[in-house]
Amino acid sequence: MTDALPEKGVPGEQILAELQELRAGDLPTHGGRLFAYVYDPALDGLDDLARAAHATSAHVNGLDPTAFPSLLAMENALVGAAARLLGGGPATVGSVTSGGTESLILAVKAARDAHPDIRSPRLLVPSTAHAAFAKAAHYLRVEFDVVPVTDLRADPRAMAAAVTPDTVLIAASAPSYAHGVVDPIPEIAAIAAEHGVRFHVDACFGGWILPYLRRLGADLPDFDLSVPGVTSISADLHKYAYAPKGVSILLHASEELRRPQYFAHADWPGYTMINPVISSTRSGGPIAAAYATLRSIGDTGYLDLARKTRESVAVLAAAVEATDGVRLYAPTETSVVCLASDGVDLFVLADELAARGWHTQPQMAHADHPPTIHLTVTAAVHATAASFAPDLAEAVAVARARGPIELPPLPPLTPEMVTPELIASLAEGLGLGAGDFTRMAAVNTILNAAPPALREAMLTGFLSLLQRPTVR
Ligand SMILES: Cc1ncc(COP(=O)(O)O)c(C=O)c1O
Repeated sequence: MTDALPEKGVPGEQILAELQELRAGDLPTHGGRLFAYVYDPALDGLDDLARAAHATSAHVNGLDPTAFPSLLAMENALVGAAARLLGGGPATVGSVTSGGTESLILAVKAARDAHPDIRSPRLLVPSTAHAAFAKAAHYLRVEFDVVPVTDLRADPRAMAAAVTPDTVLIAASAPSYAHGVVDPIPEIAAIAAEHGVRFHVDACFGGWILPYLRRLGADLPDFDLSVPGVTSISADLHKYAYAPKGVSILLHASEELRRPQYFAHADWPGYTMINPVISSTRSGGPIAAAYATLRSIGDTGYLDLARKTRESVAVLAAAVEATDGVRLYAPTETSVVCLASDGVDLFVLADELAARGWHTQPQMAHADHPPTIHLTVTAAVHATAASFAPDLAEAVAVARARGPIELPPLPPLTPEMVTPELIASLAEGLGLGAGDFTRMAAVNTILNAAPPALREAMLTGFLSLLQRPTVR
């Protein structure tokens, strides 16, 4: 690795070449063969436009909209577009945040701070809710009530039974990330309204595609602010709005509901700090890039991208159904294909798919759920979907021939036993020392066998091992 602080500055061309070389080691962000982390509309010229827009505002600071009204105008335009798409009314207000996790943390903060009288506030979610809610509960010291789902969906009766006088927020997904299914939002909204509790719809993942899938005829429930009882909703622009990373929208049904989201502090000798979101100084770059992306694609453009995504999902799902050894684990009602094993080791299969250029996301067993493979499908997959079936069939055949991973007996471990030394030797033993993450079946098998707390400790240790300063 080169030195980030050379004695003398290095020419720009050389630096860009170095960046290109570094990027060459990444998974492909474009090309419709990576089914997690990235969202690719495969639209010519869009990257260049977003890059140019980002550059116009990269140094603008969202800290003070009176100093930089350009950002305020773009934020208000983005919030207005989201409100229109997601069933907002004349009272709807919102904020631009840096991502889904920040939107969810702020929805929880607003709900918590609306009830200073409740000493031990509680957040109620179905077990399929995104991990970011657990993070919000942890950061904000809110009790976290998790209710089991029925057939992958939140169970309204079980949710109703779990509401307590201290519940400040109920949340559900539209759709869930792991399985791509939409929770019964109207039913849960009615329960929330009956109890006078706020209800947040986490549409971070699907908020910019569900409305278009519905327009295309998909049979999906109402899920947005038009549903009585829904008090807030989040939708990430860096997911199905195809904006570069760093932008999500959090909408509230009214100004009064948003008010406790703000943080204000005047009691120090510097400027009065008023923050609607977690960051104070914020780059205008991602906001300008998102604004440019939305304006460039437009409503009919998003409809077309949703159509391509929907058709791709159908092609991939048919491939899974036609392949002995795997089965669909969840209904393919949105933009996710989630498959389970029907006689093949899924972690070996994921490696074999990767060897054929298809990068999927293994999901570990959890509660009643077996391990699964997750595919987030975007419009770019339209160009590649047809070639998935033969590669899947071949990968399954090879995975079958290889058989499941056989691990040497490991000593029973508890999270407390996970030391940096243990992680370093495990990583070395599993061949991760050299930074090659292409053969992950053994690692995934170990993680899958570990209870969640041990898995957390091992992966935290591993990330910490990776995150070491470059020493020269
Ligand atoms: C349903 C859902 N909510 C929240 C998030 C968190 O979003 P981010 O990774 O942008 O923080 C995700 C991310 O995949 C998601 O799918």
